[in-house]
Amino acid sequence: MSALSVSDLSITFSGARKTFTAVRGVSFDVAGGETFGLIGPSGCGKTTVLRAIGGLNVHWQGGISVFNEPLQPGRKISGRLRDNIQMVFQDPYSSLHPRHTIARILGEPLSLRGAKDVEAQVRTALDQVGLPAATSQRYPHQLSGGQRQRVAIARALLLRPKLLLLDEPTSALDVSVQAGILNLLNDLKAAHGMTFVLVSHDPGVVAHMCDRAAIMGGGVITRIMDRADLSKDG
Ligand SMILES: Nc1ncnc2c1ncn2[C@@H]1O[C@H](COP(=O)(O)OP(=O)(O)OP(=O)(O)O)[C@@H](O)[C@H]1O
Ligand SMILES: [Mg+2]
Repeated sequence: MSALSVSDLSITFSGARKTFTAVRGVSFDVAGGETFGLIGPSGCGKTTVLRAIGGLNVHWQGGISVFNEPLQPGRKISGRLRDNIQMVFQDPYSSLHPRHTIARILGEPLSLRGAKDVEAQVRTALDQVGLPAATSQRYPHQLSGGQRQRVAIARALLLRPKLLLLDEPTSALDVSVQAGILNLLNDLKAAHGMTFVLVSHDPGVVAHMCDRAAIMGGGVITRIMDRADLSKDG
């Protein structure tokens, strides 16, 4: 089953005076259950690709299909597909509501879906990402960058998306915490049949997590590596 198909994707930003094409002719396919990596130097277009797949930037050209359902450029993602795609942002500060407690940030999306045991689910999720229960009474600015990153991961996982887009999800965490979070992601992926697209600049993280990976440079894909290439090239 195809979880994600990206074909000839191009993304251009228009400024007041000039336009800039950040992504050009990018194509790749991700099978259900796979973890697919996007690697490349800063500014090569990784986040831009992820934001288009997640429906956060609808100004793109080419084709994007998620679980065989094509997204329409220029249109917001809605309905079932909206629930099936979640993204963990590179900078979780901007994606956590500054005036909501962590309890509300994590609980509200569940309540909106009609979940009954919201408090218990929030407690379990905090515990899974290694945060004490008292974290739920805090606000995002009262947490460290790594703690915020873990809240963002907890939020995405609570919604059990079929496709999870992870943009440098553990870059603010120290190595010991990072390994725990990556293993948690892998466990939940296996338990719930999720598919991951993972952006990371860390070759160790990519080799540990990914089945295949695309190497990007200057807005294009220069190479697609399989499992054997990844363990060989580290
Ligand atoms: N909203 C925007 N308007 C104009 N240019 C943008 C916009 N967003 C990104 N860009 C440009 O597009 C290019 C790709 O940016 P992107 O954020 O995708 O890089 P990245 O590969 O995620 O880098 P990093 O590893 O530093 O996160 C960069 O040159 C960036 O300046
Ligand atoms: Mg980025």
